[in-house]
Amino acid sequence: MADANGLFVSFEGGEGAGKSTQIRRLAERLRERGHEVLVTREPGGSPGAEAVRHVLLSGAAEMFGTRMEAILFAAARNDHVEDVIRPALARSIIVLCDRFMDSSRVYQGVTGNLEPDYIEALQRVAVNGVVPDCTLILDIPAAVGLERARKRASTVASPDRFEKEEMQTHEKRREAFLDIAAREPERCHVIDAQKSEDEIAAEIAGIIDKRLGIADIAARSEAAQ
Ligand code: TYD
Repeated sequence: MADANGLFVSFEGGEGAGKSTQIRRLAERLRERGHEVLVTREPGGSPGAEAVRHVLLSGAAEMFGTRMEAILFAAARNDHVEDVIRPALARSIIVLCDRFMDSSRVYQGVTGNLEPDYIEALQRVAVNGVVPDCTLILDIPAAVGLERARKRASTVASPDRFEKEEMQTHEKRREAFLDIAAREPERCHVIDAQKSEDEIAAEIAGIIDKRLGIADIAARSEAAQ
């Protein structure tokens, strides 16, 4: 983000990729090093967006069609951006977000069969210039991810509207995340989520340290002008 000093990192991937664990570990690591960190998630992250989250994940909006769902995700995202993310970045906070705009491209766009132009138009309004500096895509084969998610689901609540879908759909989403990464290699890093938790955490730490190094250099040269 050109107009802010914080760092905006989004985490993406299919079910059971281990995003929450890695977000927690990265947040702890950054805080230990004296950074101010905000952990947030989508859909949700602001009071308005959390209200929409319930509508989306309960499946209440499903009968109104994918377009309606895509607009609701975008509405929630815009509220989250303007209410929480943009102000945090302006205060030089590191924002770690569990899912962001790439989830809409993949879930509503690719597996929801909405035209890319339609999704991109919604995204422009939703993010309003606030694009992640870095996106970590935790990549896992659908079967492995679903098995993990199933184990988790047996101890937590019932699967949400998007978790119930078929294996083929999940595999298609995996491919779609990889396509985004290939199209935007500057922003996106694909991480093999089948590695051990420690290995993944170390890989993520390396990527973020590098980004922070780059951010520091940019801030210093800006200050020098
Ligand atoms: P959540 O319970 O937060 O789980 P997880 O990220 O661990 O899968 O569920 C969010 C669900 O919403 C998830 O199935 C993906 C879906 N989703 C979309 O379809 N589009 C979006 O833009 C976002 C942010 C999420």
